[in-house]
Amino acid sequence: MEPIIKTEALTKVYNPKTNPVKALDSIDLEIQKGDIYGIIGLSGAGKSTLVRCFNLLEKPTSGTVTVRGQELQSLTPRELRRARTQISMIFQHFNLLMQKNVEQNICFPLYINKVKKAEAHARCMELLEIVGLSDKAKAYPSQLSGGQRQRVAIARALATNPEILLCDEATSALDPQTTSQILSLLKEINERYGITIVIITHEMAVVREICSHVAIVDKGRIVERGTVDEIFDSPKTDEAKRFVLYREKNMNFEGGQGI
Ligand SMILES: Nc1ncnc2c1ncn2[C@@H]1O[C@H](COP(=O)(O)OP(=O)(O)OP(=O)(O)O)[C@@H](O)[C@H]1O
Ligand SMILES: [Mg+2]
Repeated sequence: MEPIIKTEALTKVYNPKTNPVKALDSIDLEIQKGDIYGIIGLSGAGKSTLVRCFNLLEKPTSGTVTVRGQELQSLTPRELRRARTQISMIFQHFNLLMQKNVEQNICFPLYINKVKKAEAHARCMELLEIVGLSDKAKAYPSQLSGGQRQRVAIARALATNPEILLCDEATSALDPQTTSQILSLLKEINERYGITIVIITHEMAVVREICSHVAIVDKGRIVERGTVDEIFDSPKTDEAKRFVLYREKNMNFEGGQGI
């Protein structure tokens, strides 16, 4: 099967002339439709840069990014705008419009795409139902908890019916219980609507809880990848071992049931 996201020799160098930083070094990656794909690695490894290349928010220095069979760099601006409606993103700090209420936030991408008011309203109500916030349409972000704000951001990200949802540290600002609830919601969205989800995180527990596959990024390279079970059961590189052992240590610490 053709992967839904594919990168070949993807390389990104920031400030090539003045102060070059090689954030991505020849990344070959394939993500299949319906995967929940975890991207894990230490701070500065290149995770955000990699995922921002999946919708060309970041322009590769060399190499290719192919999404749903389209090589993104070959698209016209108009084609790229269209392609981007299929690739949504959520972030650690939610990025909601604070002066707008929940409904206006969720409808924003619909208005941009010239969807009629009544239709946008109906879609918004449907989305609020999915994320469990039907009673909050008129609330403002400042009146919501962190978990509720992330639910609004998820609803907004789903408004245009994307095939792909990119999550950059989407649960990092949340407490463990709220994190679990948001992860369950993402899993439900993946199962019900077949949306492919890419999750950047530095927490192995997040990967363990919902991912099907995981790639470990270190210094701009993928050092190991596979199904979550493969990586947990037989990590091969030191980087992978470090993440897996860290998790076991944590489990021992929390419940004494690590082994
Ligand atoms: N706009 C930029 N200009 C210059 N260097 C950058 C820029 N953005 C990122 N970098 C550098 O590229 C490298 C990879 O950064 P990136 O943000 O992708 O890492 P990350 O894995 O997402 O880290 P974190 O877990 O802290 O979010 C880092 O060395 C970073 O300093
Ligand atoms: Mg990052």
